[in-house]
Amino acid sequence: MAKLACLVVGTGEYTTGYGLNSAKTDKSAGVIMLTLFELRKQGLVGDLHLAGVQGAKLPAIRAHMQRAIGEAYPGSAFDLSCSTYPADGATDPLAYRAGLAAMPRGSAVLIFTPDDTHFSIAMDAVAAGMHVLATKPITLTLSEQAALAAAAAAKGVLCCGEFHKRWDPFYGDARDRLRKLGDLSFFTAYMSQPKIQLDTFKAWAGKSSDISYYLNSHHVDYCEWVMQGRGRPLRVTAAAATGVAVVRLGRPCEDTISLTVNWENLPSRNVAIATFVASWVAPPADVHSQQCVGRGAAGARAPLTLPATDCAPHPPTPPFPLLLPGVFLPWRTRARPPWTSATAGFPPPRRPPAMPPPIPSL
Ligand SMILES: NC(=O)c1ccc[n+]([C@@H]2O[C@H](COP(=O)([O-])OP(=O)(O)OC[C@H]3O[C@@H](n4cnc5c(N)ncnc54)[C@H](O)[C@@H]3O)[C@@H](O)[C@H]2O)c1
Repeated sequence: MAKLACLVVGTGEYTTGYGLNSAKTDKSAGVIMLTLFELRKQGLVGDLHLAGVQGAKLPAIRAHMQRAIGEAYPGSAFDLSCSTYPADGATDPLAYRAGLAAMPRGSAVLIFTPDDTHFSIAMDAVAAGMHVLATKPITLTLSEQAALAAAAAAKGVLCCGEFHKRWDPFYGDARDRLRKLGDLSFFTAYMSQPKIQLDTFKAWAGKSSDISYYLNSHHVDYCEWVMQGRGRPLRVTAAAATGVAVVRLGRPCEDTISLTVNWENLPSRNVAIATFVASWVAPPADVHSQQCVGRGAAGARAPLTLPATDCAPHPPTPPFPLLLPGVFLPWRTRARPPWTSATAGFPPPRRPPAMPPPIPSL
């Protein structure tokens, strides 16, 4: 059987490691192409295709992958060959379509481009009969997401979001524990990257996407995953801080965005709060992506915390485990088993005035 062909759309920091600050980030070898080269070595994928917009960058990108992957792991004997689009020197935002045409139906398309482009590229890939893995956020609006889900279902192809926290064993373990602790009371997440990311992302930061879509999306999805089948968000309010990015980029751009989400636990209808704060104006620190996650639950005696750490997926190092654990300290939890009624004797919770209808499942 022919091995799965893959087209990666986007040639930036996350796919190839190539960018303005490639020497300074934790992803100088990229993540996606490196992983695909390893999967090909393991015999799991076949032909690889890589599509960007500016063909003028492609010779430098190939040289960067040779240096950061080929020469950095000399014993690994990676086959770094891949077809690239557009032609060297040409500029074409639709060059990925040539990559789609070069693969058989049922191949895989991995989309790692600026957030406002995911939807149209994914729709094209689905229409061509390809399976899709799109980075978070898959789309910028719920209506686009519903349209994409419907198109994928009609074509009988898979279309998934790359919320990689869900594959992190520490986050998975934490979810299992959190779901045993009764109603959510509060959830808080903070995630930041250093100011140099504003240079790396200057093509789109503040223009077509923002720091909340870029970083908060991780923990918004994680909170949804923890609460799956146990509650629903009622309302979202957001606030932003400005001052640093606007000077660095010379255009309006938020530095930090906070979201406060009111959740309704079901069936109790107790109301919880979740706050998500994301920033790209952090000073350089011990790790590239600072983050901290905490959660208070009805059944927990102490809040659960994931201490500040960097748990972005690190490029695999030989012998290439594909899921590397982060460097979390152990969970600090002493759950009260099982949760009895901590609210006994209290009046029933006040309902928010206007309840939105349940969110239709996609
Ligand atoms: N950098 C990270 O750590 C990281 C981690 C997880 C997910 N992501 C996500 O991946 C996406 C890309 O991030 P990045 O860090 O690589 O950004 P980047 O700005 O370094 O690269 C974006 C790339 O997309 C290309 N591009 C733009 N429009 C395109 C089109 N129509 N067709 C093909 N290529 C196109 C650009 O030429 C550029 O090479 C974003 O959605 C981001 O949220 C990034």
